[in-house]
Amino acid sequence: MRAVRFHQYGDPQVLAIEDAPEPHAGPGQVRIAVRAASVNPIDWKIRAGYLAEMMPTTFPAIPGTDAAGVVDEVGEGTSGVEIGDTVFGLAVSGGAAELAVLGAWAPVPAPWSLEQAAAAGLVSATAIAGLDALGDLAGRTVLLEGAAGGVGSAAVEVAIARGARVIGTASETHHEFLRSLGATPVTYGAGLAARVAAAAPDGVDAALDLAGSGSLADLVAIVGDPAKVATVADFTAAALGVTVVQGDANASANLALAAELGTSGSYTPRVEATYPVEQVAEAHARVQAGHSQGKVVLTL
Ligand SMILES: NC(=O)c1ccc[n+]([C@@H]2O[C@H](COP(=O)([O-])OP(=O)(O)OC[C@H]3O[C@@H](n4cnc5c(N)ncnc54)[C@H](OP(=O)(O)O)[C@@H]3O)[C@@H](O)[C@H]2O)c1
Repeated sequence: MRAVRFHQYGDPQVLAIEDAPEPHAGPGQVRIAVRAASVNPIDWKIRAGYLAEMMPTTFPAIPGTDAAGVVDEVGEGTSGVEIGDTVFGLAVSGGAAELAVLGAWAPVPAPWSLEQAAAAGLVSATAIAGLDALGDLAGRTVLLEGAAGGVGSAAVEVAIARGARVIGTASETHHEFLRSLGATPVTYGAGLAARVAAAAPDGVDAALDLAGSGSLADLVAIVGDPAKVATVADFTAAALGVTVVQGDANASANLALAAELGTSGSYTPRVEATYPVEQVAEAHARVQAGHSQGKVVLTL
C-alpha cells in the first residue's frame, strides 16, 4: 500500500510517500480504506523525536493518530460494525496511509464530510475526556485555555452542548472564530486573570488547559481549586494537584458521543486546511507552527 513513512527523527522533510506492508485488523479492531487523515501535534512531536524516550519509535514509521474511511476488514471478535461502513477514529497503525487499523471508532454522522470526520478523531475524544474531568457543566462557566485549536474548538462546542458558558483563550486573530462557535474570547498570556474577571464577573467554575503553555498555576488561581482544573497538555500538572487527561481513555464511548453531537448539529469539526497526502511535509509544518484554527487534514 501507499503510505507516508519516515526512517529517522527529523524535520518535516523526513516524511516520504513509499510502499509499505498492509496492516491487518487484530481482535477488537477494524481496518479502513483511508479517505482522509488529520495531523495532530503528537504526530510532529513523534516525528521530531521529542517523545523518543516516552514513546520510542520503530522505524520505518507511518505517522497519523486518526483517520476516516470505509471499513474493509473486521478483526476477530469485533462487533457492531461491518465491511463497507464509513467510520472515523483512532489509528493504531498510522493514519497517513491507504489502509489503517483503528482501535476505537464511530460511524461518520450524515452532516459531516470525510475530511471533517478525519478532523474529529483524536480531538473530539480528548475534548470530551477533558470536559468529563471537570464534572457537570450545566449552568457553569468554564475557561478553555487554547480554545481555537483542534482540541479547543471541539471542546468549545461540546461544553456549550452540555449547557456551559464558555470563556475561550486565543490570539486576537482567532477571536471572531471563537465568537462564531459561541464562546467569549479573551487573549491568553500575562494579565489573563484580569481579562477573565472582566469577561466573567461572577467567576469561573472550572478550567481546561488545551495548550500546555505553562499557565496551569494561573488557571488554578483563577478557578480557586485544582480539583476543578484539568489539562491535556501539561505534564507538570501533578505538582499542582491538577488532573492530566489522556485523549484515548474511554475513546470508543467518547467517539460515539461526538458522532451523536455531530448528528444533532451540536458539533461540527472545523477544518482549517486540507492537503493532498503528497504535501504531508507542508501539513506537518503548519501544525508545528502551533496556531491552528481547527484542524489540518490530509486527503488520500
Ligand atoms: N493528552 C492527550 O491525549 C492529547 C490529545 C490531543 C492533543 N493533546 C495536546 O493538546 C495540545 C493542543 O492540541 P491541538 O490539536 O488542539 O493543537 P493545535 O490545533 O495546534 O492548537 C493549538 C492552539 O494553542 C493555542 N496557543 C498557542 N500558544 C498559546 C498560549 N501561550 N496560551 C494559550 N493558547 C495558546 C493556539 O491559539 P492561537 O493560534 O490563537 O495562538 C492554537 O489554537 C497539544 O499540546 C497536544 O499535543 C493531548
